[in-house]
Amino acid sequence: MTQRRRYLTTPIYYPSGEPHIGHAYTTILADALARFDRQNGVDVFFLTGTDEHGQKMQDEAARRGMAPMDLCDLMSAKFVAAWERLGISHDRFIRTTEPQHKDVVQAFLTRLWDRGEIYEGKYTGWYCVHEERYWTEKDLGPNQTCPDCKRPVEYVEEKNYFFRMGRLQQSLVKHIESNPDWIVPAVRRNEVLGFLRQPLGDLSISRPISRLSWGIPLPFDPEHVAYVWVDALVNYLTASGAIDPHAPVGRQGFEDVTGSRWPADLHVMGKDILTTHAVYWPTLLMGVGLPLPRQIFAHGWWVVGEAKMSKSLGNVIDPLALREQFGTDAVRWFLLREMPTGSDASYTPDRFLARYDELANVLGNLASRLIAMIDKYRGGVVPAGRATHLDARIAEAFASVRTAMAGYHVHEALAAAMELARDANGWVESRQPWAQAKSPATATDLDETLATLARTLVALAALFQPVAPAKMADLCSRLGLERVPTLAEAETLGLAGQTVRKDAPLFPRVEAAET
Ligand code: MSP
Repeated sequence: MTQRRRYLTTPIYYPSGEPHIGHAYTTILADALARFDRQNGVDVFFLTGTDEHGQKMQDEAARRGMAPMDLCDLMSAKFVAAWERLGISHDRFIRTTEPQHKDVVQAFLTRLWDRGEIYEGKYTGWYCVHEERYWTEKDLGPNQTCPDCKRPVEYVEEKNYFFRMGRLQQSLVKHIESNPDWIVPAVRRNEVLGFLRQPLGDLSISRPISRLSWGIPLPFDPEHVAYVWVDALVNYLTASGAIDPHAPVGRQGFEDVTGSRWPADLHVMGKDILTTHAVYWPTLLMGVGLPLPRQIFAHGWWVVGEAKMSKSLGNVIDPLALREQFGTDAVRWFLLREMPTGSDASYTPDRFLARYDELANVLGNLASRLIAMIDKYRGGVVPAGRATHLDARIAEAFASVRTAMAGYHVHEALAAAMELARDANGWVESRQPWAQAKSPATATDLDETLATLARTLVALAALFQPVAPAKMADLCSRLGLERVPTLAEAETLGLAGQTVRKDAPLFPRVEAAET
């Protein structure tokens, strides 16, 4: 049987500022999907990285009096470090300033050019430097401001190269309509279809170097650099290994992607960049004749009040500061449990604490009390015992988690897992193992209780592993296991005969964490 493979991506982030919880959310979400898949035996390739060209980086470097490349090195390293601290298990971190990427972008543009998909034209109109976007008069906000970031726009008149995107409109609509799950959730798919009801223009894919020099030169006109979004989107292709830009034209991989990771199985992103991924990117791929990504998933925003949390609005939360106080896995849990994938959510310290308490008081507490009882009543060795009513609940929880994860409803999967932990705690109360321990007549009942709870705890370790990988590895080591079992293993694994180890609480009380 061939092993299932999956190529999963996050956006590549602008390293013009520090990573914030918006970036962290997307990356942790994709990480949990990657870990869940790996746990199910899938051969995952998980890509993230930084988007280092463009006006924003050029301007920020100028503001700091730095060379753009030095700024990229400095800031990209901050993303690498943040992802390490947040337990991200990416297989590749791509930077758009890598020579290999530059060569693939140029090969991509050459291919479009050779196929007649690009023409030279002139752009006259409004441009937002911050968003790196052209706007039409009717898009503008009051006093000629950008409709997205509300900053003043500039009137520009310049030679541009255009990609014939408009003529691919109908093919794209057809693709979206005949593949209902291509863009999820459905609300986002409808937004894209709504956008495509208007005529789709051609896409400007270049910027004159007189205005912007920090970019990849067009292979057919070195006086222009590639529009940063074209450069950025191609990263998914570069990392897939499908294109060999150094091979002769005609044998670079555009005709046949066999053996590479292309097409991507899933692009994960926030809803702010859905159009670029669901309209520009697929039409560009059609333009070069490559297969389209298999699926696009756009999640909602972390908001503060009504506003999206963003660096430019100055209302961002630092995930690394939260991590200092509560630990990596608690941050991961909060973000994934709190936001219904697809809608918006807001961060408040109270919500964070409430979610942390769930981890400590429900899951952490179950682990501590069970290990303590096995230690006290059975000398630290897990007894054997028959299946009980709780085993049926384990099976139900597995089914709910699998269904929820298949639809990327990660918050529901986590809710189902936590519900199992809650039920197990309730079951402890109803079984009263401390009473069962009092008489030899109920020794078998006590074995049954402890054995069932041990099976539940292993199941929980497997279910929580994608969100809390470090804590679940720790829990499994306390249960005498070398690693967190896979879902399939956890379904059948008994712990009978295993020696458990008592230790400090998995999720310390917050007061304790603060001191
Ligand atoms: N560089 C482009 C992406 C190119 S991908 C080929 C870019 N970068 S970004 O740094 O602005 O990151 C945008 C992404 O960060 C969003 O799509 C989302 O994944 C994440 N988020 C940034 N702010 C966010 C929130 N407030 N809430 C949730 N996610 C957000 O766009």
